[in-house]
Amino acid sequence: SIPIIVDCDPGHDDVFALWLAAANPAIDLRAITTVAGNGRIEHTTHNALVACTVAGIHDVPVAQGAAEPLKGELRPAEWIHGANALGGPTLPTPTVKLDERDALTLIADVLNASDEPVVLVPTGPLTNIAHLVQRRPELLPRIQRVIWMGGSTGRGNVSASAEFNAWADPEAAAIVVESGLDFTMVGLNISHQALITREVRARIAALGSRVAAFGVELLEFFCSTYEASQGMPDGPLHDPITVAMLIDPAVATTTRARVDVECENPQTRGATHLDATRPPNATIALDLDVDRFWSLIEDAVQTLGSK
Ligand code: BDR
Ligand code: CA
Repeated sequence: SIPIIVDCDPGHDDVFALWLAAANPAIDLRAITTVAGNGRIEHTTHNALVACTVAGIHDVPVAQGAAEPLKGELRPAEWIHGANALGGPTLPTPTVKLDERDALTLIADVLNASDEPVVLVPTGPLTNIAHLVQRRPELLPRIQRVIWMGGSTGRGNVSASAEFNAWADPEAAAIVVESGLDFTMVGLNISHQALITREVRARIAALGSRVAAFGVELLEFFCSTYEASQGMPDGPLHDPITVAMLIDPAVATTTRARVDVECENPQTRGATHLDATRPPNATIALDLDVDRFWSLIEDAVQTLGSK
């Protein structure tokens, strides 16, 4: 199975990325690290521990990472994820304890301990990964690839052209894209195909477990804020597409392209520009096999519910 570290800012869809990574036998989830994004770091860390507690994930270390983007101020996505970044269900007190190491130390320890290169799966702003590139360059050969949910080949969701994870820390995204690491961008252009329809929610609810019920409460809250703020009644489950693509590469089509992250222009800060005239530096996810994706999510929730 593929050794991975999920670096996340839970966040409703981040929770499903964690659950998919923990449940699917093709993935060996070695660590979870947190970053500020959807919420302040206290919230995203707490929510990662909640996600593990609800799903019975007790054997994966969870460490806290960056509280602020490289430049500027954190602006949490409260309009989508609520004031605690995980609005909807009543959150249980976590029984999973936070690792004493910080995120960078945990990532370094996992990379150093692994016999094979490890895949990094960031599903939030790229602040922690940029810190790793800048502070621990000797570790980069131990990273097999980076598969990130963020960016877009077209429209944005925070501004006309910027997606939230790219907009929240564009300098970090630029550093990671230009690091020479094998980089995949899973942007809004594909994630808006993973729509949480009523039928999807009914299928997950029908699994009948506590974890399924908690998951459905998350999805219902997320869809309601998406409807209110974006006019989309079926919100898109962005983050788990990254993990799904590792499990089954056929779940998405891809192309190679040159990506540049806009860091200067205040109107377009965080936009991910694709340029076909220059040599590629990234793999870009394009189209989702929607049925295959939801089957993976459903299987994961079922597996966790039977543990
Ligand atoms: C991304 O931003 C966050 O709100 C989601 O968790 C996802 O990672 C989508 O733009
Ligand atoms: Ca996220």
